[in-house]
Amino acid sequence: MGGSRMGNSLGRIFRMTSFGESHGRCVGVVVDGCPAGLSLTPVDIQGELDRRKPGQSHVTTARAESDEVELLSGVFNGYTTGAPVCMLVWNRDTDSSEYEERRWTPRPGHADWTAHVRYGGFNDYRGGGRFSGRITAGYVMAGALAKKLLKDTLDVEVLAHAKEIGGVRAPETSIDEIRSNTESNLVRCADPEAAERMADVIRAAAAEGDSVGGVVECIALNCPPGVGDPVFDTLEGDLTKALFAIPAVKAVEFGLGRGFSYVRGSESNDAYTVEDGRLTLETNRAGGIHGGITNGMPVTCTVTFKPTPSIGKPQKTVDLKTMEETTIETKGRHDPCIVPRAVPVVEAMVSVVLADHALMAGLIPRVLEEIVE
Ligand SMILES: Cc1cc2nc3c(=O)[nH]c(=O)nc-3n(C[C@H](O)[C@H](O)[C@H](O)COP(=O)(O)O)c2cc1C
Repeated sequence: MGGSRMGNSLGRIFRMTSFGESHGRCVGVVVDGCPAGLSLTPVDIQGELDRRKPGQSHVTTARAESDEVELLSGVFNGYTTGAPVCMLVWNRDTDSSEYEERRWTPRPGHADWTAHVRYGGFNDYRGGGRFSGRITAGYVMAGALAKKLLKDTLDVEVLAHAKEIGGVRAPETSIDEIRSNTESNLVRCADPEAAERMADVIRAAAAEGDSVGGVVECIALNCPPGVGDPVFDTLEGDLTKALFAIPAVKAVEFGLGRGFSYVRGSESNDAYTVEDGRLTLETNRAGGIHGGITNGMPVTCTVTFKPTPSIGKPQKTVDLKTMEETTIETKGRHDPCIVPRAVPVVEAMVSVVLADHALMAGLIPRVLEEIVE
């Protein structure tokens, strides 16, 4: 009947392993392969976790978790040692009663049924178990480490923001607007006016016991050219795989993405030019990647999230014990829109993949600074 393996690890040199369940004791990550000599404190990790944690506002789930990081290994005297870095947060505010009640009635749109089939009913179904958005706390911890590594060694900056929510699309914004506005509104949109409308759309859906989806845009600045490999290890391929590890992601696009279908070659190529004696590109329709390898322009991608599956409206399902059709209304605490909390998760996964590829390309040394007594 096949094995019971789960794909819990990602990366070749900078390799993360995710662990924990939504209503188990904890959620965390082990990162192996982080170079020695990176200055790191729990504050570096906590700042990112606070952006993802539940209970931030009325447009996110009401689950109350402080999500204080415990940095258990791999750091000594304020620097990484080159040994595995284990980080976790404890689960405290778990209410599994609803999940016991409707264990046999899988939620439409969620992974309850497919997980049950795959693991013969042995999976921890409480709160969605391994399929919960909560496991992305581990991704964010690994991402915080990768972000620090990329910033300190290559000055790479990874920024994401809510581009679209429930059909409300933000206008084009500058990098400065993304930097200064994204954290100052509930939905993490770089345009304050669009942010208001996005929050209204979420509130309206939530009031009807419903949910909405949206799009997160991510931009990695200062990526040096030459990161990525052909043929099966392309940067786009690896980024896509990592981004699809985020629950509720349904599409990933680079540069013009689907827009390439509507333009001619003359409108889609990025012309080469010289600036300060160095080759550069005049435009960035490719999203900073050609042949699976960075071309020195910002790496840009968009990630589409579906509406949160758990909703208050009655939905049709099947009682697995009686095999009779029935309806369920999901109670419990759920995000009426995943996008605001997913913004730091997208940044995290992009950072993890870029760090891994930069290490593979030899652009980051395995020991950052040697101690000379
Ligand atoms: C940050 C985050 C929070 C989420 N919160 C919820 C939630 O409150 N309720 C829910 O049903 N799904 C939530 N999800 C999505 C489900 O985990 C996801 O839809 C489910 O595992 C099925 O996977 P799939 O949509 O990728 O097929 C969340 C996802 C993320 C990334």
